[in-house]
Amino acid sequence: MSLLEVDHVVVQFGGVTAVNEACFTAEEGRVTGLIGPNGAGKTTCFNVISGLQKPTRGKVRFDGRNVSSMPVHRRSKRGIGRTFQRLEAFGSLTVRENVRVAHDIAQGVLGLVRPSKGDVDALLERVGITAYADERADSIPTGTARLLELARCLAGDPKLLLLDEPSSGLDETETDVFGDLLKELAAEGRAILMVEHDMDLVMSVCDEIHVLDFGSVIASGGPQLVRNDPAVQKAYLGYSDLDDDVHHGASGSSAEQTHVDLPAVEQTQQVPMVPTSGEARP
Ligand SMILES: Nc1ncnc2c1ncn2[C@@H]1O[C@H](COP(=O)(O)OP(=O)(O)OP(=O)(O)O)[C@@H](O)[C@H]1O
Ligand SMILES: [Mg+2]
Repeated sequence: MSLLEVDHVVVQFGGVTAVNEACFTAEEGRVTGLIGPNGAGKTTCFNVISGLQKPTRGKVRFDGRNVSSMPVHRRSKRGIGRTFQRLEAFGSLTVRENVRVAHDIAQGVLGLVRPSKGDVDALLERVGITAYADERADSIPTGTARLLELARCLAGDPKLLLLDEPSSGLDETETDVFGDLLKELAAEGRAILMVEHDMDLVMSVCDEIHVLDFGSVIASGGPQLVRNDPAVQKAYLGYSDLDDDVHHGASGSSAEQTHVDLPAVEQTQQVPMVPTSGEARP
């Protein structure tokens, strides 16, 4: 049985079907990718899994239990942790204080033992942001702030990490280090479910990938299988090879300016990848 099972989840916002009968899983010890064009429903799926969004239909099972009606804090307590596409750290606190607050919340809500300063610093070290420990969170670079989000998430010692565009703002070297960290976290037995637009990162760290398009899972499988899937190529580029997309996607990946500007369905010429404002497509 998978640690996480998303079972025929539907989310409708008025007339918009954001998630459409989505079924996918995430396993302990593995990095799983959840990818798809802007507006495909990835963040909405995360909201359903973490309990922020009630699905119109469908179920979420976690660790052998139907958690569909469970409030957010109880899901956290059972081991679901997440980071957000929009950064959530407290800007006026230092990086270290932010992680300590996350620990305190974990203690209060999750009943974990309060960590010593050493534990907090170990988390900073682990995600590679020790040099920023005493900086205010609103003064650090975006990539560092994303690593801070990860440290805050790890403070709750989750079994499942939901990471929404975690590498946005990291440079190439930092992204490589981050990829290794994800593999380590998975090797410890955690399940990682990652929404990410940097295709180099996705293809190099994910054991399995689920592809969403217009709210539906259009492909699931290993990186090679997904990369070569015609439906996936069409969803991203209209027709072309995902390889072309890899380089552009990696360089421009951030929550604000990531994404593939999808061509019209009938388009048959190769189109350049154009960074957009990050808004979902219509
Ligand atoms: N609270 C909401 N109310 C109405 N529509 C919403 C709401 N949240 C999301 N949507 C719509 O649902 C669809 C899926 O949005 P979602 O944010 O899940 O996409 P995404 O795959 O995370 O996109 P991106 O890659 O841009 O982050 C979009 O059409 C979006 O406009
Ligand atoms: Mg999103």
